[in-house]
Amino acid sequence: MEVVIVDSPSQVAQEAASRVLDYLHTNPTANIGLATGSTQQGIYQLLIDAYNEGRIDFGKNHFFQLDEYLGVPETSPTSFQHVLKSHFLEHVGVADGVLQVLDGNADDLESECSEFEHAIASAGGIDLQLLGIGRNGHIGFNEPGSAFDSRTRVVELQIETVQSNSHYFESEDRVPRHAITQGLATIMAAKFVLLIATGEAKAPALASMLCSPQSVATPASILQQHPNLIVILDKAAARDLP
Ligand code: PGA
Repeated sequence: MEVVIVDSPSQVAQEAASRVLDYLHTNPTANIGLATGSTQQGIYQLLIDAYNEGRIDFGKNHFFQLDEYLGVPETSPTSFQHVLKSHFLEHVGVADGVLQVLDGNADDLESECSEFEHAIASAGGIDLQLLGIGRNGHIGFNEPGSAFDSRTRVVELQIETVQSNSHYFESEDRVPRHAITQGLATIMAAKFVLLIATGEAKAPALASMLCSPQSVATPASILQQHPNLIVILDKAAARDLP
């Protein structure tokens, strides 16, 4: 594991985008797992800039969604699928179908989850997985208590996550209570994981993830065992690290 601590959120985005670009230059056909969340926005903008400047071509990549709310229309600005498309994929010259979505409106959610796992396997696995971390230590929507051997599935969101995400919705009671997420074992199977975090609110979660014994109480702590993990933090998020 490599932990990189920089001064500011913009430096986190720069360092992360530069790691992604380096990786894609040596792995141009990589399958990429895309996270949603405010922390990721800076990376996506820098990747769009790199594309516009001719420094990267995403034409040979396939993309996989990390998580999604249940019951949010896919055209809604709060749909993660919509965010990934409108804030990134639509700006880098890739066709609509290259994002393997998690459809939170599927009639048969169990089949949706198993088909998603099958799609990852058929594509040869996820090579690069982008991740954020929740204040409660979640990765994707794997909330505290999630089994380390969990795969893609429907989950119930904990109140802390609902509150953290409520600013995207008209009010807290409009935030979906359920979501669909890659499981912890699904994320662990990615060949390279790049997790970023900024701000003091994430500091306790980072300390638990990196310094406490592994525990389902901090789902991100499963990553201590990942063979190829880079964690990029600003000083505020790293506040509680030794
Ligand atoms: P955030 O979300 O980037 O909006 O803080 C991260 C997460 O919950 O995984």
